[in-house]
Parts: sequence; C-alpha cells; structure tokens
Amino acid sequence: MDTVETIAPAAVIVLAAGAGTRMRSRTPKVLHEIGGRSLLVHALTAAEGTSPAELVVVLRHERDRVAAHLAEHASEATVADQDEIPGTGRAVQCGLEQVAAADGTVLVTYGDVPLLDPATLRELVGAHESAGAAVTVLTARVEDPTGYGRILRSEDGSEVLGIVEHKDASDSQRSIDEINSGIYAFDLAVLRDALGRIGTDNAQGEMYLTDVLSVARADGRSVRAVVTEDVMMVEGVNDRVQLAQLGAEMNRRTLERHMRAGVTVVDPATTWIDADVTIAQDAVILPGVQLHGATEIGEEAVIGPDTTLRDTEVGAAAEVVRSHALLAVIGEGASVGPFSYLRAGTDLGATGKIGGFVETKNVSIGEGAKVPHLSYVGDAEIGEGTNIGAATIFANYDGVDKHRTTVGRHVRVGSDNVLVAPVTIGDGAATGAGTTVRKDIPPGALGVNAVSQRNVEGWTLRRRAGTAAEVAARAALEAEDRSAAQTPAATAAEEHKEHEQR
Ligand code: UD1
Ligand code: CA
Repeated sequence: MDTVETIAPAAVIVLAAGAGTRMRSRTPKVLHEIGGRSLLVHALTAAEGTSPAELVVVLRHERDRVAAHLAEHASEATVADQDEIPGTGRAVQCGLEQVAAADGTVLVTYGDVPLLDPATLRELVGAHESAGAAVTVLTARVEDPTGYGRILRSEDGSEVLGIVEHKDASDSQRSIDEINSGIYAFDLAVLRDALGRIGTDNAQGEMYLTDVLSVARADGRSVRAVVTEDVMMVEGVNDRVQLAQLGAEMNRRTLERHMRAGVTVVDPATTWIDADVTIAQDAVILPGVQLHGATEIGEEAVIGPDTTLRDTEVGAAAEVVRSHALLAVIGEGASVGPFSYLRAGTDLGATGKIGGFVETKNVSIGEGAKVPHLSYVGDAEIGEGTNIGAATIFANYDGVDKHRTTVGRHVRVGSDNVLVAPVTIGDGAATGAGTTVRKDIPPGALGVNAVSQRNVEGWTLRRRAGTAAEVAARAALEAEDRSAAQTPAATAAEEHKEHEQR
C-alpha cells in the first residue's frame, strides 16, 4: 500500500486534441470503441490506475462532444483546451495550465492508446523516481518503425540523447528500430521550464514534446528510457484498420484473463467479450458468443452457442442457448432459448424458463415459472410456478397506451391465449386453449371463452370439389363406410356416433 502511495504521480495529462483525420469519421477518433468502451475511457482507466492527484485531458478537435463524453464517463478528469498552436509540446503546455501542483512526477499519455495498462504506467513512475530522472520515456523495439519518433542513444546505448521525429530524421536515424511510444514520466518543474524554451523549427512546424528530452539533457539533467516488450500495449489507433487490430488484441487479452481465472472459452476465435464484463469461475462460453457492456455471468452458467448478451445478469448454473438479451436478469438455474429475444426489463426467476421463439419485455417471471414456446410477453408479472401455454400473446398495447397484465402463482394458461391488458388472472387459476382473456379471472377459476365447435358434414365435398382435399376426404369417408359394413352392428353404431362427434 505504501508503495502505491509513493509512486502515485502528481498528475497525468492525456493528449486527445488531434483531429484523427485518418479515421475518416464524423465521430471524433477517441470516441470510437473497442471492447465496449471508447478509446478515451480505456486511456483514462489506465491513467486512473496510477491514482494521480490530478487528471487532465487536453482537447481541441470536436472539443464539446468529447467533453460531454468525459462528463458522462470520467467526471473526475479536468478538460484543458489546446489553442491553435499545434504539436504535442503545446498540448502538454496547455494541459499544465490546469495542473495546480508545482513539483512531483507528471505522466503524459495519449487518448488513442487503448491497450496501455496501469501496471506499466506504475512501473514507469517507479523507474523514473527511483533513478531520480528528469524525463523517462517508454520505448519499444518494432519491426517497422516508419512514422515514429526514433530514440537516439549514446554510442554504447546506455544513455538517451533525445528523440528525432521520422520526418526530421536522417537515413541512418531512420534505421533505428527503437521508437518513442509517446508515453513519458516527467519531473513537473523541468517539464514546465523546458516547454517554455522549445520552438517550432522542424519539418512539421509544430511544438514537439520530444524536444523536452534534448533540452533537459543540455541542462545536464538525467534522461532515461524504459523499454517495453509489449509493443501492442503502446500502439495507437490512427485508422479503422488499427481500430480492428487493437480491438481483436484487446479481446484476445480479455479472453485470456477470463480463461486464466477459470472460465472455459471453447472457441476464442468467435467469442467477443467487452472489458467490463465479469464472469465467475467454471462458467462455459460456447462458440459464437458476444458479451457486452456490464454483463455479469454467474458460476457454472453455460452461454451459447451463438448468443449475444448486453448489460445482462445471468445467475449461477443458468443456461442461455442461441438467444439475444438486453438489460435482462436471468435467475440461478434458469434456462433461455433457443432463439429467444429478451428485451429490457426482463427478469426471469430462479429455475424459470423462457423457451424457444419467445420475446419478452418489461416482465418479471417468478421462480420456476415457464414461458416455453412461441410467445410474446410484455409489461407483465407472472407468479412462481406458473406455466404460460404455447403461442400465448400478452396484448399490452391498445394502440395508444401500454397496460400491465398480472398472472398469479401456479396458474395454467392454455395454449394460444391472448391476454388483453389490463387484466389479472388469480393464483391457481387456469384458462382453456384459445381463450381471449379480457376480464379478470379470480383465483382458482377456469376462464374459457372459445366458441363451441360445429362440424358441417361433407363441406369439402360440396364446396371444394375437384381439389386434392376433396379427393382425400372422399377416400377417407369411403374407407370408413367399408369398414363399418364389415364390423358387427353394435361396433358400427359406436363408430358412427364417434364420427358424428368429431
Ligand atoms: C508522436 C511523437 C512521436 C511518437 C508518436 C507515438 C511528437 C512530436 N512525436 O508522433 O515521437 O513516436 O507520437 O505515437 O510528440 N495531440 C494533441 N495535440 C496536438 C498534436 C497531437 O493533443 O497538437 C495528441 C493526439 O491527439 C494524439 C497524440 O497527441 O493522441 C499523438 O499525436 P500524433 O499526431 O499521432 O503524434 P505523432 O506526430 O504521430
Ligand atoms: Ca499517432
């Protein structure tokens, strides 16, 4: 705990003022999402993991939209506005205007680097402070360093001399494969001072933050580098190809974390899990599953195959097969699917069932209650142990208003019912098949209103003459006549009576 406190930086400044032109998007780059969070929220989560005293985000492009996103998702961050002077150096200078501290360590990171983790930042602060450095830059060795700033080192490699931008670099400097990640720990006082002394005399006419390193060194301060092996962690998103690549890498890391914690993921290649999802031990995730937002999966639950859950809570040992759920709660040991659609406000009780081809919305279904087949259930409460017959529709909408239906405990609703809300069916009541329930049914009563059936004999023979139906009917009737002629009189009479009743 003491260690954490001693390495907490005075401030983190997250740079997010750039236009992100290569995204070719109406949405600001840092608001694009991977793993269920914006790039910016990923960056801020890493920053917050170092417990900084102050957290500043530098904005300019689409400032108001990004600031609104921050207010919603990271209200502890302070916005600093960059002016029209371009460059990472100017961005940090504008950020520092919002920092109250006069000394200590300040971290600089980017809003478009989503895989960076708090542990790496803490290690950077630790290395920086224990060495008493003025600047410590996080670097990586990469296969293709094109476009990055290159780390210039002394002959024996032990000292960092500075950083040269790709556009300003000589051919021999461009052959250097150690790149600047853009993530640094600075001594706050040195940073403020050095930024006041850098210009824009370079290939891009910008204030380069990277120039702070050579300025500090010229002042005789210690400039250091920490090399990370994890190149993906410091990679930024510039276009949508990288967005997909880093999204896939984040997903791979998320799945690995869950598997190491005791979750079975049968097919990582077709499984997508957002960063905030929680999954308990011994849950099984089958192929083709997507778990989004604040979804929570309980112990030994089995999800999938081919299931998408968003902001949904699944209880221990529940099963969800080939279904889609949004803002739903699925109780312990309950079962859902295949092919069902649980919309917002669905609350399925423990050991309850939502079977195949069922749509539900804003409904609480009691413990052990079942909606097994082909139904729509909306704006309702269903008591424990109740069974809703196949193809039952809760008619909750009269074209103007929505109304609620209440079905009590241990009710048996027959097949193909329409429950016209507002209506209440009492505990232990039942309804016949095909009932349209428009009036309340008291506890223990049977509600029926299906029209009694009348058979019009020979209708097909008269009205559908010449059809296959007529041929089939005639053949069946003739066969009956023949068998009646062969059986004793008493049996024949019986059969005739049965035929009449059909
Ligand atoms: C910068 C570094 C480079 C490093 C690379 C790593 C400088 C001069 N160069 O390059 O050495 O290898 O990052 O990705 O620092 N930003 C602002 N305001 C600005 C300009 C940029 O806030 O005026 C922000 C951007 O939104 C982005 C980050 O800073 O989050 C980096 O900007 P970018 O233009 O991508 O940096 P590079 O010039 O590519
Ligand atoms: Ca970049």
